[in-house]
Amino acid sequence: MPPTRCEVWAPAKLNLGLSVLRRREDGYHDLETIFVAVDLYDRLIFSRSAGGLRLGLRSGPDSPHNASDFPLGEENLIMRAARLVERETGIPLDLSIEVDKRIPSAAGLGGGSSDAAATLWAVNTLWDLRTPPEILHSWASRLGSDVPFFLNGYAAHGEGRGEVLVPLALYRDWWAVLIHPGHRVSTGEIYSGLSLTGVKSANRILPSGNEEGFFSALRRFHNDLEDVVVRRIPTLIHLRDALLGAGAEHAAVSGSGPTVFGIFRSRPDDRTLTMLGTAATGARLHLVQPVMTDTALKTVL
Ligand code: C5P
Repeated sequence: MPPTRCEVWAPAKLNLGLSVLRRREDGYHDLETIFVAVDLYDRLIFSRSAGGLRLGLRSGPDSPHNASDFPLGEENLIMRAARLVERETGIPLDLSIEVDKRIPSAAGLGGGSSDAAATLWAVNTLWDLRTPPEILHSWASRLGSDVPFFLNGYAAHGEGRGEVLVPLALYRDWWAVLIHPGHRVSTGEIYSGLSLTGVKSANRILPSGNEEGFFSALRRFHNDLEDVVVRRIPTLIHLRDALLGAGAEHAAVSGSGPTVFGIFRSRPDDRTLTMLGTAATGARLHLVQPVMTDTALKTVL
């Protein structure tokens, strides 16, 4: 018998480097990126119960969201993931989903995509659907370019729209400070502001499992979307410089931003964190590490 309830922790992701290679005929861009899942998690509780599909928000003290800025209707990627499974399988889902949202939305951290992947995984488990991985992957990529990453391992090299993935064994003994300046950014708008002529050469990213290989690759990474994001939110430059000044080996915007992350070899001390916390008014700071599990999603059945 499959379980009737499960809890899934859906992690945030960072793009350690991101090269935009070309604009495609379908309006998307081909890119090359390194995804890594970090241990800032949304927690989703799925329970089979009569009454159709229902989504609710649990707002704890760590939550950056409340019901007024986290839509719970059909537009939410969690709902879209569940509806997609209903359509594809013909099974009406009597399912209640409670989300404890801790990853800021529209922040370049993949929170919505991770929640969608968690939903696909949970519905499969609760209804014992045994959907083949390649079908699950195609459902995920229909929901969003970053969704397939979260169904797999903790790190991957991504190509295509971001959905062509090769798992990576990445050195993981590092810390990252994420600074989210409080603005929301639309991924589509950032891509449309990109001038492809100015794009630097591709991140040829071959991080190795060892410490020195990882840090020397990391220092060469760049994010082609960064200039577009920084034009909209110029304070991001100060945040990046503050992270580098505090000893980060590398600091950059994640994905389409506006979260800026800095990667440190060891845990920054409390004084450094307090100093970084005051680098921008209204900014939120998170201290994270790569997820230590083999899979990006963490499940608590
Ligand atoms: O796939 P997702 O829904 O996350 O993408 C949001 C928007 O970002 C797309 O509509 C597209 O404008 C842009 N995008 C892109 N190339 C990608 C990923 C996203 O142009 N590889």
